[in-house]
Amino acid sequence: MNTPEREHWSRGLGFTLAAVGSAVGLGNMWRFSYMTAENGGAAFVLLYVVLTALIGLPVMLAELTLGRGAARSPIQALAHYGGPRWRPLGALFVLAGFVILSYYSVIAGWTLRYAAEGLLFGFSTEVGAHFGEISRGWDAVAWHCGFMVLTIAFVAAGVRGGIERAALVLMPLLGVLVIGLAIYAATLDGAGAGYAYYFTTDFSSLLNFDVARDAAGQAFFSLSLGMGCILTYASYLKRDHNLPKEAMMVAVSDFSVALIAGLVVFPLLFALGLQSEVIGVGDSAVGALFVTLPKAFATMQAAGRVVGVVFMLALSLAALTSAISLLEVVVSSSMDSFGLRRKHAVWLGGFAIALLGIPSALDTSILEVMDSIGGAFLLVLGGLLLSLFVGWRVENPIAEAAAGRSYPGLRLWYFLLRWVAPPILALMAWFLFEDSLEKVRALLASP
Ligand code: TRP
Repeated sequence: MNTPEREHWSRGLGFTLAAVGSAVGLGNMWRFSYMTAENGGAAFVLLYVVLTALIGLPVMLAELTLGRGAARSPIQALAHYGGPRWRPLGALFVLAGFVILSYYSVIAGWTLRYAAEGLLFGFSTEVGAHFGEISRGWDAVAWHCGFMVLTIAFVAAGVRGGIERAALVLMPLLGVLVIGLAIYAATLDGAGAGYAYYFTTDFSSLLNFDVARDAAGQAFFSLSLGMGCILTYASYLKRDHNLPKEAMMVAVSDFSVALIAGLVVFPLLFALGLQSEVIGVGDSAVGALFVTLPKAFATMQAAGRVVGVVFMLALSLAALTSAISLLEVVVSSSMDSFGLRRKHAVWLGGFAIALLGIPSALDTSILEVMDSIGGAFLLVLGGLLLSLFVGWRVENPIAEAAAGRSYPGLRLWYFLLRWVAPPILALMAWFLFEDSLEKVRALLASP
């Protein structure tokens, strides 16, 4: 059902900031650093940049085009352009949203808790043990549920009153905090060694399929692609937007924040001699950032407490605007599909997601499996099907994207979607599938 009173952004900037808010999140810090550490540093980053430009940007423009053109949530938008046989792809998107938000909120709960504890009591020096307490058991469940309630509250307030308002306030604040942190990090002794590590490329891993596979997953995760999130936000757009420009804005902002985040993290770690602890990958790569950084903050005493609280706060805010966008996919789909009212859809969806997140809150190895299935495989699979859909099924997508104007790059865009993205994504999806399968097996085999 396409209701005539569909909500809209009140201003163009509202959409841009909300989309950037969706893209910029834990992916830029937690996931980026854990993936970089697992894949040997700068070569991973380079592949991630190449895949973002070659495939991420085209898929982003595809989502923007479908969303704005159909003005419907993902399932309906696909049916609108491709007929009812494409509805299952929309359902796959919603499923991915469920899975991702369920564990995303668990990690956001960790950051929220670090911020609160840092503010009230300072950072514990027993970091390893403390992270164990934070990331396991019913405490973790409680913080996860708390974060979900926060997310629910914003989404319940609607597109303009909740999502747009949150982005307008939180995104500029986040920008200031992150840049402030990077400037501070530059003043530390040893910052130079951190930069050097960050920007040194080992070219041999460029040809490694495992590295490419993770870089593809990371590109989709960080840009919020492959599950109809950007599509949903674009469905609240009015027709006169310059979509190629919006896609560029989101991709460039997202990448800048990831880059600047590295400029905060690496100097901090090197200045305190903690680099081996992130790069050496202990038993829980997922948690590395949340052990090493609090250790840095604890070592730095008073200054560390201020920096640490600011850092964790920035991370929580970034996570909040991303979680809002994930929940909105589930909400707008159930509003359109079942005719639910927003409030009901938000609480129902939010409750189900909170439940699904409990196993991840109890055990980080379950979280890691959820991330490899939802945060990588399902997204790349979704991106593959989406590029096939827009490249081969939608009639005249160039005209849909341009909406009466003309943009120079659209022919290249169409070419990339038809010929370049599908084979690469098919290969990556296959490798990610194998990787997820292996992780599930390992999890089941462990006691
Ligand atoms: N991109 C966000 C991050 O980097 C997370 C996110 C929000 C996301 N919406 C998404 C990831 C949709 C995949 C799909 O933290």
